Amino acid sequence: MGHCLILLLYGLAQIWESSEGSPRNFPFRCLQISSFANTTWTRTDGLAWLWELQTHAWRNGSDSIHFLKPWSRGNFSPQQWEDLQHILGVYRSSFTRDIQEFAIMLSKVYPFELQLSAGCEAYPGNASESFLHVAFQGTHVVSFQGTYWEPAPDAPLWLNRAIEELNKDQGTREMVQSLLSDTCPQLASGLLEAGKSELEQQVKPKAWLSQGPSPGSDRLQLECHVSGFYPKPVWVMWMRGEQDQPETQRGDVLPNADDTWYLRVTLDVAAGEAAGLSCRVKHSSLGGQDIVLHWDGSRSSSTIWIVLGCLLIVVFIVGLIIWKKRHW
Ligand SMILES: *[C@@H]1O[C@H](CO)[C@@H](O)[C@H](O)[C@H]1NC(C)=O
Ligand SMILES: *[C@@H]1O[C@H](CO)[C@@H](O)[C@H](O)[C@H]1NC(C)=O
Ligand SMILES: *[C@@H]1O[C@H](CO)[C@@H](O)[C@H](O)[C@H]1NC(C)=O
Repeated sequence: MGHCLILLLYGLAQIWESSEGSPRNFPFRCLQISSFANTTWTRTDGLAWLWELQTHAWRNGSDSIHFLKPWSRGNFSPQQWEDLQHILGVYRSSFTRDIQEFAIMLSKVYPFELQLSAGCEAYPGNASESFLHVAFQGTHVVSFQGTYWEPAPDAPLWLNRAIEELNKDQGTREMVQSLLSDTCPQLASGLLEAGKSELEQQVKPKAWLSQGPSPGSDRLQLECHVSGFYPKPVWVMWMRGEQDQPETQRGDVLPNADDTWYLRVTLDVAAGEAAGLSCRVKHSSLGGQDIVLHWDGSRSSSTIWIVLGCLLIVVFIVGLIIWKKRHW
């Protein structure tokens, strides 16, 4: 019962959030990707995002953190950044060494991939919530809870030995806890303040229609492309008049290189039924003025008319020249 209520509240919060367009909280997330190809070849890279915007990169070749936004330093001093880079450098080499030792201890076969997702969400005031999850070969296996490492519900049994070892290392646990519950929220709230105008900007989408590969004889695939919008929540539907077309297929919202988003929405229809359809786009940047694009059923035939028209003119001019030559 309690779970149902929480789920319901969560669902309502999601709806509120997506309808509102700009959520109240902006999570800060770091992703670590570590590949172990064999006993000698390994690399570890990191990325960080404040909500939808990538703020930092941390590449295997170097110890320094790359600042991807003018405001990526938040309110940390140069000294604090230097300390953090030092901690991360030490962390990377001990992480690599520990994993290589675990691989021997648990006789794990190469290659394998580890991903760590860690972050926090700073709320107004000083409240925050942090998380750290680890995935092995793409499956969530370990989380950091409070002050201990804990196996995920579906973690394989062989992992328990590794977790036991991890929990013996009090120094590392204290470091992780401090990073998650002090450093992360402090960094996140500084970033939030420094990057506020970019986070809260509204960028209008551009939309256009095209015809996709034919899904079958006498059928058309109508494509509606929406690109260049920010933030990410967007509503795009194929419509007939005011009627949503439930067979509308929505792709994934994909990132453009400039921190805006792209979405393609398609509809598969009988060739004779395309006329009268339109694509409608709702986005927070449009202030209620939806973009509506009408499918022009004569699209392909109009091209033919233009080509024919041009040909006719050419024929007429050539004819005129020939006639004049003969006449003279
Ligand atoms: C380890 O993996 C790398 C990258 O796949 C490869 O180039 C290298 O030859 C491998 N080394 C050994 C000893 O297998
Ligand atoms: C990653 O960095 C480590 C330490 O600097 C280095 O030993 C290793 O060769 C690098 N891996 C690759 C694939 O460049
Ligand atoms: C937040 O924490 C800082 C010190 O960490 C303190 O000075 C400040 O008063 C706190 N703010 C609130 C709203 O609790």
